[in-house]
This record gives sequence, structure tokens and C-alpha cells, in this order.
Amino acid sequence: MAARFTVDGVADRLGPLASAALHREQPLPALLETAGSPDPCGTLVRLFTLGQQVTRAELDAALPTIRTAGVATLRLVRPSGEQVTATCDVRPYADDTHDWWVASDFSALVTRQPLRPDHVLGIGGATTTLASWTIRRRVGRALDLGTGAGVQALHLDSHVESIVATDISERALAFARFNAALAGLEVDFRVGDLLDPVAGERFSLVVSNPPFVITPRDEDVPVYEYRDGGRAGDTVVRSLVQQVESVLEPGGVAQFLGNWEVPAGRSWRDVWDEWLEAVDLDAWVVQREVQDPAEYAELWSRDGGHLPGSADHDRLCAAWLRDFASRDVESIGFGVVTLQRPVGGRAPWRSLDEVLGPVAAPMGPVVEAGLAARTWLAEHPDDDVLDVAWSCAADVTEERHGRPGAEDPSVILIRQGGGLRRVVRADTLLAAYLGVADGELTARVALDAIASLVQLDPDAVRRELVPQIRDLVADGLLT
Ligand SMILES: C[S@@+](CC[C@H](N)C(=O)[O-])C[C@H]1O[C@@H](n2cnc3c(N)ncnc32)[C@H](O)[C@@H]1O
Repeated sequence: MAARFTVDGVADRLGPLASAALHREQPLPALLETAGSPDPCGTLVRLFTLGQQVTRAELDAALPTIRTAGVATLRLVRPSGEQVTATCDVRPYADDTHDWWVASDFSALVTRQPLRPDHVLGIGGATTTLASWTIRRRVGRALDLGTGAGVQALHLDSHVESIVATDISERALAFARFNAALAGLEVDFRVGDLLDPVAGERFSLVVSNPPFVITPRDEDVPVYEYRDGGRAGDTVVRSLVQQVESVLEPGGVAQFLGNWEVPAGRSWRDVWDEWLEAVDLDAWVVQREVQDPAEYAELWSRDGGHLPGSADHDRLCAAWLRDFASRDVESIGFGVVTLQRPVGGRAPWRSLDEVLGPVAAPMGPVVEAGLAARTWLAEHPDDDVLDVAWSCAADVTEERHGRPGAEDPSVILIRQGGGLRRVVRADTLLAAYLGVADGELTARVALDAIASLVQLDPDAVRRELVPQIRDLVADGLLT
């Protein structure tokens, strides 16, 4: 649009300093940057992102077609005399091929007070994380569970024929309907708890940034609909894991974010093994963050607008610490869960990976390739793995580290440039195999040649290397 109220337009208008500060939830540089210069983009940023009053004349000039009267009819602003105030946050949002606008409630950054319990979230860090990790294959039906302002549904529109989006909050659905209409999308919006609104239906893709925040069930702790499903501990995420199968087509995939509690004496993998015991789905869980109970309490007390140092913040943190202590929780994991309904009668595969550092963006293509690789591996015995002429992926490099003056390296690291950016420590056998894995020789021929070169039993070399080859194939270091 003429005002350049787009992601790129706003970034240009604010410049790198104010944009970066706003990203860190510091509005001051953006306020200073846009003060006193009523250009169209600056006016819209002040009104809809920074929550400042602007004049009718400024808004008329920024939106000359619809003008203040039209924006007021949409109930996005409330005029009062010559001044105009926004009723909600409206901000540009984009993917590679679309420019959208997303309306939601103003954050505590603008309201400067604790959020209302029925707050409707806009575009948060978790929103963009899930959008990045979502596979973008063409499918017939997809479900966005807990759609909020409808951001995941906007993304789904580019590769899904028919979208169902649900939420327990009518207020959230009202924002989502508005945003879908603004983007020209047709979405079947339904109200209800978790999978209730779609019971008995089937989808090829389910995405959810669910209300996963673990919250003490204490009457003094506010229940924020946008982040808290109203259950104790990590029950919301566990229920989704255990129930989503009922709405997945064979071959269908569910992806969501979640938190999980890890009690003392157990590992996060133990927790997931137990959650998945009765689940007949392939499961790929990538743990991305780990926090202790105090860090978690601080994060989520603050997220509701209760600032550190206030009595409310301390009271909430104490409630969180008591709640975690009551279940002997030692740490809380956060990550991305991908579940796939196997086709045919094969046993499901499991992949529980911890990747705490940066990963590729977007991750969707990596997840799609990882699903295909893990599924192929689950369906093929070691002999088939040996009969493939694998190639080392183009983004894989080798680092050799040694003591000064030493002839041989003491550590060989295989580093993946993209994907999950894995770093694998290789022994000389694996390094030798990767050195010849160029798609010409099958693994069987290559390993036999290496075994004869180093005078080792070929069976022993295969037994040692096939599990490592499987691991590298799963994450795309060998293709
Ligand atoms: C973290 S927000 C996610 C919003 C949006 N999908 C995104 O990615 O930004 C979680 C959403 O789940 C909704 N919700 C909370 N409890 C729910 C429940 N029991 N069943 C369905 N949705 C629920 C909230 O109203 C909120 O809109």
C-alpha cells in the first residue's frame, strides 16, 4: 500500500537501531524516530504498534482511501475530537510471497499494565518458531489448533486447500476472522477445547502453538487464555501428544511446540519415552531450551506484564516455585514436536534430539527431509543401508584439531552448515568413509575397502559404522 506499512517498509522507516530495539521490546528509539514527522508509515507505526495517539489529519493522510472514518467503522480506532487512538495492535507480517496485516491485542509493552486474562496474542517468538518449523507440503486439509489471531492459518493458506482453525476463546476467533478476511482467506473457524471441535475428522497436517505454559493452579495466579490451557503441569502438551492420532490421516503429520517437566532423577528423554508409550505415531522431538524452575517462573511472571521488583512479580514467582516443588520438578524443557502417523503396520520410530544452538531458517524443509529420511531408515534393514551409494551433503565440512606439532589429529569434527547444524565427533573409520562418500561407491564397497586397508574384519567395520551412517542419514549429513 502507498503508506509502505509492510515489514520491509517499517524496517526502512525505523532503521536498524529502532527496529532492533523494538524487537527487544524497547519502544523508546521507535518513538523518538517517528516523533514529529507525520509521514504515512510513521503515523501507522505510532498508532498501531506503539499505541500513541495521532491526529485525524495524520491518519487521513496515511490511509487516504479508507480515512479515519473507515478505520473507525472497522473498530480499529476510536476517534475523540481531533485525536485518534487505536483499539488494538495492527502490524505488517510477511512470508516470502505475501504481505499481511495482523490485528491482536496490544502487548504489555504498550499498555504498561498486566495483561487481561483473555488477552489475544499477536506475533510472538513462539508464533514464528512454529511457522518456521512447519512443513509446507501441499495437503488437502489442515488444522490450526489454538489459532489465536490466526497467524498459522495465514501461513497454511499457501499450501493447504481447506483450513480448520480452532480456539477456546471467542475473542481470539474474532481477531482471527478479521485477519483472515483482511488477507482474503477462507477458514473454517470453530470454538472449543483442544480437539473437541474436530472430533471424528481427519487432517493431513495439524499445527499448534498450544497454551503450553505450565502455570500454578493457584487462585492468585491469573489464567491467561493465550498461553495457559487451564490444566495442571504439562498436561495440555501431553494430552495433545496422546490424542492427536485420532485426527491424523495415515501419513499425516502434527507439529507443535511445548514445555515438559523433568522431575529430579529423570532425563527429558525418560519423560518423553513415557509419554509416547501408548502412542502409535512416529515421534521426533527436538529439545531447544532447558530452564530451571526459577528461570521459568521469572520468564512467565514477567510475560504477563508483572515487572521484576514488583510485589506481584515476587508473589507469582513464589507460586511457580511452590508448584514445581510439589511435583519435584528440576527442569523444564521447551521444544518442537513432530508426530507422524505411519502408513501400513510398521512400528513407529522415535527421535529425541537436543539442539540448543541456532538452526536453519526456515526449518520446514529440514523437517520434511528428516521425516522422509527417518521413515526410510525405519523401513529398511542395515543391508539396504549398505547398498546405497551415499554422498556427503554439500554443507558438511571436516575440522581436524591436534596438539601443536602432532602428525595426526586428536579430534575430527564433522560439521553440518545447515539443518540442525549438527557437529559429530568422528573416529578415523568414520572420517575415512565420509572422505569417500561421494555417491559413487555403495557403503558396502567403501567400508570393505577401508577394512582391508586398515586390516580390520569387514563385519566389525560394518557393525561399527552402520549405526553412525544411519544417524548421519537421519539428519541429512549423508544423502
Ligand atoms: C500461544 S497462543 C497461539 C496463538 C497462535 N496460534 C500463534 O501461533 O501465535 C495459544 C492459543 O490457544 C488458545 N487456547 C487456550 N486454551 C485452549 C484450549 N483448551 N483449547 C483450544 N485452544 C486453547 C488460546 O486462546 C490462544 O489463542
